[in-house]
Amino acid sequence: MEILHISAECYPIAKVGGLADVVGALPKYQSNSTISSQVIMPLYNNKFTKENTFETVYETKLTIGGKVSIYRILTLKNKDIGFNIFFVDIPELLFNDFVYSNDDTDRFLAFQIAVLDWIMTLNEKPTIVHCHDHHTGLIPFMMTQCKKFKILRSIPTVLTIHNAQYQGWFSHNKVSLIPEFNIESVGVIDWDGSVNPLAAAIKCAWKVTTVSPSYMEELKLNANGLEHLLSHESAKCVGVLNGIDAEVWNPETDNYLVGNYSVSNVQSGRKMNKKWLCKEFNLDFEKPLFAFIGRLVGEKGADLLPEVFKYALEKEKISILLLGSGHDEVEEQLNDLIDAFSGSYNAFIGYDERLSHIIYGGADFLLMPSRVEPCGLNQMYALKYGSVPIVRSIGGLKDTIIDINEEEGFGICHDEVTVHEITNAMERGVALYQDQSKFRKIRKKMMGIDHSWNASALEYIDIYKSLKN
Ligand code: ADP
Ligand code: GLC
Repeated sequence: MEILHISAECYPIAKVGGLADVVGALPKYQSNSTISSQVIMPLYNNKFTKENTFETVYETKLTIGGKVSIYRILTLKNKDIGFNIFFVDIPELLFNDFVYSNDDTDRFLAFQIAVLDWIMTLNEKPTIVHCHDHHTGLIPFMMTQCKKFKILRSIPTVLTIHNAQYQGWFSHNKVSLIPEFNIESVGVIDWDGSVNPLAAAIKCAWKVTTVSPSYMEELKLNANGLEHLLSHESAKCVGVLNGIDAEVWNPETDNYLVGNYSVSNVQSGRKMNKKWLCKEFNLDFEKPLFAFIGRLVGEKGADLLPEVFKYALEKEKISILLLGSGHDEVEEQLNDLIDAFSGSYNAFIGYDERLSHIIYGGADFLLMPSRVEPCGLNQMYALKYGSVPIVRSIGGLKDTIIDINEEEGFGICHDEVTVHEITNAMERGVALYQDQSKFRKIRKKMMGIDHSWNASALEYIDIYKSLKN
């Protein structure tokens, strides 16, 4: 069985968020003696591209809306990332130093058409085409409706929704960019007067998955306008919890860490990482260290963080470290707090993969006050590295974290995204930190939980098999 994952991101090549981590790990865990799982993504003009070498496996011309571009399909020549990876190189459209911009319609449409054009040329076509998020959402439509892709109709497609907030809407003026299809089918790509690639994929894919079971249920109630569609299509929808790549995310072997450790020397190992963080960011090592890592957007509750931090820092003897970037206003407010709380608060506004690993390995608590969290990988990394997650019970956070007040609990949960509830949860964290014997016991329990991809990769394989029969 040949699985082809189609995605805009893939770790370690191009990462904006968790989508990259998933697409960079799942194929490794799916591949075995009978299954080969591969990825195709755009070629970006980024650090990875500059540092590696590629080989052209196919080159042709692509005509979109009457405009002809040359495009190439490349493979990686000098490196083994654990699975086969292909790149679509369309110099004028895709080869940018960013993954996403404000106007991605033409870029990702060209990418999707190029992928299908290339599949058409393969002697051995994929057994399953697995699309990720709206950037690849028109693929199931084009495979079933476009005349030129007619022979791909019998290949089953799976759509995984990592985030239904973003749907890739564009105007009907651009419909002519899609290769010819029976115009009577235009309703399939339409949602409320715009072309909606995510809605089209939900309608056309053979199976739709979300990245946690709870998120699937939540989407039926609120999916940025698509809730009725998801309820209507519920027979083909299922939630499969993401996993983490245990080869990349393992405190015993993680090269980014200042000190490696396992459960048996967690105390001394984590101390080295926390010391480094406190020195680097001028924080007091003796106080409990709370951290936030992520995109500074409303979904993550980031707009409340400045007020939460101010309140908590005035009230409690704690340190706080933030790593993230996003809305300008939130970034500014978070930066403004640095001087006011020098010695107990700091922020790195930006993206830094290494720093994120050291934070999981050194911070005592990881905050995730998300309004929406389809799965969330941060809390699973935190568990594995022994940083107690403080989460809002929603989506994947609800599916992975049990509050310490419950039997077998190991994290701290709150129900609402308010300054009051978040700071209350942090206070509970301070109390837990003061009870060091309980704190250490919980940490050991967290580190023993297996969130690797093993189980979920099998769930996907069962889905693929069910579509083949
Ligand atoms: P999302 O995909 O919604 O952003 P996830 O929890 O699924 O959230 O995944 C976020 C991923 O991105 C994690 O690997 C996290 O460590 C990483 N990450 C987020 N922001 C940053 C940042 N500023 N610097 C480094 N890594 C980051
Ligand atoms: C999205 C979601 C996040 C999820 C990630 C990987 O970015 O926001 O919750 O963990 O995709 O599936």
